[in-house]
Amino acid sequence: MARIIGALTTSHVPAIGGAIAKGLQQEPYWKPFFDGFIPVRRWLDEARPDVAVVFYNDHGLNFFLDKMPTFSVGAASEYRNADEGWGIPTLPPFKGIPELSWHVIEHLLEREFDITTCQEMLVDHAFTLPLKLFWPEGDCPVRTVPVCINTVQYPLPSAKRCLALGRAVGEAIASWDSESKVVMIGTGGLSHQLDGERAGFINKPFDLKFMDSLVAEPEWATQFSNHELVERTGTQGVELLMWLAARGAVPGRVRKVHSNYHIPISNTAAGLMALEAI
Ligand code: DHB
Ligand code: FE
Repeated sequence: MARIIGALTTSHVPAIGGAIAKGLQQEPYWKPFFDGFIPVRRWLDEARPDVAVVFYNDHGLNFFLDKMPTFSVGAASEYRNADEGWGIPTLPPFKGIPELSWHVIEHLLEREFDITTCQEMLVDHAFTLPLKLFWPEGDCPVRTVPVCINTVQYPLPSAKRCLALGRAVGEAIASWDSESKVVMIGTGGLSHQLDGERAGFINKPFDLKFMDSLVAEPEWATQFSNHELVERTGTQGVELLMWLAARGAVPGRVRKVHSNYHIPISNTAAGLMALEAI
């Protein structure tokens, strides 16, 4: 059976794509952010996953406000990146693994998650940049299953539901008849607000508590409604739901391999965690 090796969770910010394209990783502004990924890459070099299941939120590239699925899963042989309006260079297509996508989809339906299936799916910075940060050299070496969670158009799925979604995805992977090693990735958050009166809002104590809770007590965040999460983390901070889903997909206990927290990158509190399944 396939093996889940752990979860990687990180913030995503379009400006990271510009920094990579311009080679700014050593600049004082960017260095504390990019350096955070070095120990995670070391871990990946050892662990060598074959597949990444990526929980992320699309920002209007593949889904717009007229059609907004709560949960959607990619089932394509490749996922193309396109210009989403931030002026960052696009990355080459990412390889899919339709066989696993359909296995996950069937399991989710059995578990009463009525998801949208996407045999074509454009992927935006929330999917592409974290993969580039984890595997900076050449094309991305792992095959991918994108799992998109709506955090753009209300109503949004609750923290409790996102954790449950992650758990159901984890069950699907554990029952996949394959020798593959699978890593879970969750991208979004942590606290940030891009617009309105509280633009620039960041809540470091909440972010650190949330990061802590993911290791041994991922249910902690499910005590909050999405309005309470927005109050505590900003309108876009609610993207932390992706972290919950990715953590939920790792069955049982995890060991923290590494974490990093740096504020701000653009308007965002940039968090990073690597959690190994034990
Ligand atoms: C920023 C953060 C995001 O999560 C995003 O999707 C877009 C922009 C930012 O901080 O600039
Ligand atoms: Fe975002």
